[in-house]
Amino acid sequence: MSDDTKTSQQLWTGRFTEATDRFVEAFTASEHFDRRLYRQDIRGSIAHARMLTACGVLTEAERDAIVRGLGEIQAEIEQGAFEWSPALEDVHMNIEKRLTDRIGDAGKKLHTGRSRNDQVATDIRLYLREAIVEIRAELLRFQQGLVDLADREADTIMPGFTHLQVAQPVSFGHHMLAWYEMLVRDQGRFEDCAARLNVMPLGSAALAGTSFPIDRAMTCAELGFDRPSDNSLDAVSDRDFAMEFAAASSILLTHLSRMAEEMILWASPMFDFIDLPDRFCTGSSIMPQKKNPDVAEIVRGKTARVHGHLVGLLTLMKGQPLAYNRDNQEDKEPLFDTVDTVRDCLRAFADMVPAIHTRPESMKAAARKGFATATDLADYLVRKGVPFRDAHAIVGAAVRHGVETGRDLADMELETLRGFSNTIEADVFEVLTLEGSLAARDHHGGTAPNQVRQQVQKARKRLAETPAEGRS
Ligand code: ARG
Repeated sequence: MSDDTKTSQQLWTGRFTEATDRFVEAFTASEHFDRRLYRQDIRGSIAHARMLTACGVLTEAERDAIVRGLGEIQAEIEQGAFEWSPALEDVHMNIEKRLTDRIGDAGKKLHTGRSRNDQVATDIRLYLREAIVEIRAELLRFQQGLVDLADREADTIMPGFTHLQVAQPVSFGHHMLAWYEMLVRDQGRFEDCAARLNVMPLGSAALAGTSFPIDRAMTCAELGFDRPSDNSLDAVSDRDFAMEFAAASSILLTHLSRMAEEMILWASPMFDFIDLPDRFCTGSSIMPQKKNPDVAEIVRGKTARVHGHLVGLLTLMKGQPLAYNRDNQEDKEPLFDTVDTVRDCLRAFADMVPAIHTRPESMKAAARKGFATATDLADYLVRKGVPFRDAHAIVGAAVRHGVETGRDLADMELETLRGFSNTIEADVFEVLTLEGSLAARDHHGGTAPNQVRQQVQKARKRLAETPAEGRS
């Protein structure tokens, strides 16, 4: 078969007798999305070429031409001058072909002793490792903002909720530190993910390793991996790190979505607990009075797509036999979109949440209306010797009276309260205040403002010790 029946660009046409179907060419191409990996691909290729030279497979002149050529290609890509071709399938072959066009035969030797299978597995790991560094830095910034807000609002009293019914008063700062704790666990999950993914597949070649003398320790050191992979079959087919990253991202987004939900409720005039800065809200094209918490709503909405990507990646892997299968090309779009979405959502909240303006009077009024100190009255009776269950029933009756007469417990006269239990004395009013209720919960993990301040100190110390920089 003469050459003109084949698409001339492809690098693997030797055994084929007809050109790839046009649709198939477009259908199987990934360069339009995996070009995002160009930096990692070039970095990996340079390390590979240096290693092949040290092992006597390439000459120094070939290595120098490759390193220089790849550097020039990187500049071309960054200047937008590189011509990407779907006929060359993916980022790897686009770059390799361009290298050969520029430097000739040395370019054709670059792929000695490797496969796109170990190449792409290495590229994605390098990419994700860098992405996690950025995500962790953004997480840290958000955590710092929450701790500052908690410090400012340690004495601000809000009703705490269970079942979205007023339960007991809590410090608004305590609530912000609850969000902070969620993010501490998220930090740990991304840290774990980065540690586990930092294993180098390069050298596994297509699936079985290579017959060339290679020095994997050398490429490993140059690329900053902790160790080379121990099994070539596993290394080219493993995408656990992608699933793990998507899982950590999904849990993080679930947290952000819960925060979003609370902010949306609190910003509603029916709650009126907070005011969100205008620069993070939008108006309505028809209702002039509206100020909508769109940023929070979009974060809540974005959570859905990240959860979707996790399910997509799990499903992508579940039926695959060892070793590499082309299915794996489908890992990139969900992964890239997860990175972008997580980064944007964190940025939005790191900017917006610390700028929340609280409305302490509204929060206090809501706490009073909801009988938030009822448990404090029951505890008071218990301290005076009343069994807890009896105390519960006594306070229940007092609350019913409060509901009927439209009064909080703290607004009732002593005589009225004594009507429910003559154990009650004048000192009861100390425990019926919202401030008294908070101050009483003065133990490790409790909501007393002085405990909140201690937790703020602990958090500040922990944040100062969290490395902002990872390996990249
Ligand atoms: N674009 C491919 C991917 O992302 C690269 C590996 C292709 N390997 C192959 N043997 N076709 O997975």
